[in-house]
Amino acid sequence: MSQTHSIQVRINGTPYAHEVEPRLLLADYIRQVVGLSGTHIGCEHGVCGACTILLDGQAVRSCIMLAVQADGHELTTVEGLAQDEKSLHPIQEAFWEAHGLQCGFCTPGILMTLVPYLEENPNPTETEVRDAISGNLCRCTGYQHIVDAALLAAEKLQSKP
Ligand code: FES
Ligand code: FES
Repeated sequence: MSQTHSIQVRINGTPYAHEVEPRLLLADYIRQVVGLSGTHIGCEHGVCGACTILLDGQAVRSCIMLAVQADGHELTTVEGLAQDEKSLHPIQEAFWEAHGLQCGFCTPGILMTLVPYLEENPNPTETEVRDAISGNLCRCTGYQHIVDAALLAAEKLQSKP
């Protein structure tokens, strides 16, 4: 039997403590152990960005981290963006209004990439947005609607009281 390690994390403000195998990927921990399936797994190689979450506020790829590496850290997944079903995060509202998704598979990773990015660069140009999401692969949209949604999200965040 494999040796396990105790980890404690906070995800979207809720504390969790589990015994995990050292080989367990953080993405699999979030989805299968904690049960938050909004974080998607596309490539498992750090290429597609679908598994992007925030670790202490920074966007990271949870498919190329181990769950044990998250011990003691604060994580935010896409489920942590909206306070409830009726109060979407401004970035989620923008993706809805600007048709920034089709199948939605890439969307959680793009949203979680944009959250810290728009905090650092609240008024980006289209070129800067394209650069910021260049590590997030979408097979559906052709990117224009995603870029439009990101620019709309920046406007919404800036006009937020
Ligand atoms: S699943 Fe993590 S980058 Fe593709
Ligand atoms: S909306 Fe389908 S992969 Fe991006």
